[in-house]
Amino acid sequence: MKIGVFGSGVVGQTIAGKFADLGHSVTIGTRDVAKTGQGDFAGWHRAHPIIELATFADAARYGEILVNATSGMGSLEALRLAGAANLKGKILMDISNPLDFSKGMPPTLSVCNDSSLAEKIQSEFPDMKVVKTLNTMTAALMVNPSLLPGDHNVFVGGNDEGAKAEVTKILESFGWKLENVIDLGDITSARGLEMYLPLWLRLYGSLQTPMINIKVVR
Ligand SMILES: NC(=O)c1ccc[n+]([C@@H]2O[C@H](COP(=O)([O-])OP(=O)(O)OC[C@H]3O[C@@H](n4cnc5c(N)ncnc54)[C@H](OP(=O)(O)O)[C@@H]3O)[C@@H](O)[C@H]2O)c1
Repeated sequence: MKIGVFGSGVVGQTIAGKFADLGHSVTIGTRDVAKTGQGDFAGWHRAHPIIELATFADAARYGEILVNATSGMGSLEALRLAGAANLKGKILMDISNPLDFSKGMPPTLSVCNDSSLAEKIQSEFPDMKVVKTLNTMTAALMVNPSLLPGDHNVFVGGNDEGAKAEVTKILESFGWKLENVIDLGDITSARGLEMYLPLWLRLYGSLQTPMINIKVVR
């Protein structure tokens, strides 16, 4: 498949690298191709030359499946740069978190309680099929759940059942067992997934490791 990944940071790199390892063709989108190509991204890109770096619009045009791995405060701007026409009808795996670092640490949530970033995205781009997933864990774990022992969970939430089924297949290809993928329902389920971040950040601080995840016991 052709995959368009919005985001040149650690999540974009990790997801893009995994898709490429699985044999997919990947283009990463960024605001300024020349600038990103010379920065921290350059070292990683040298090790993954098969992955293209392009504008958000070109990555959107290219991808049959799209991934939002941009900073939560910049996600809507990134998608506007990608262009509604290029996003139309496509699945967006939304991994972003609405973390606002502008007032220092710990970050606050820029949207919460009665909405979420995923809902803002879905509402501004109604023709795109947004599936919230993978935002509840550190990047390495997203594409390699066996880094933690035993069973633990990943979530999907979105309005389009077909899109969630497609994303679930992608998660299985990343190594997630089907029984560990929990469908939380429509896109409003992103509220809880995003509001988990303050707890995740506290766990990270207390346990001194990002290698932590949710295991739902019943
Ligand atoms: N780091 C993790 O392990 C982790 C885990 C779970 C979820 N997440 C979430 O995943 C997302 C990506 O995280 P990250 O750590 O890889 O990188 P990040 O530093 O949060 O985001 C980097 C990306 O955001 C883009 N961006 C920033 N401001 C923008 C703006 N105003 N307009 C358009 N684009 C903008 C950057 O564009 P340029 O390429 O142009 O610079 C870059 O591609 C975040 O929402 C984060 O909360 C991260």
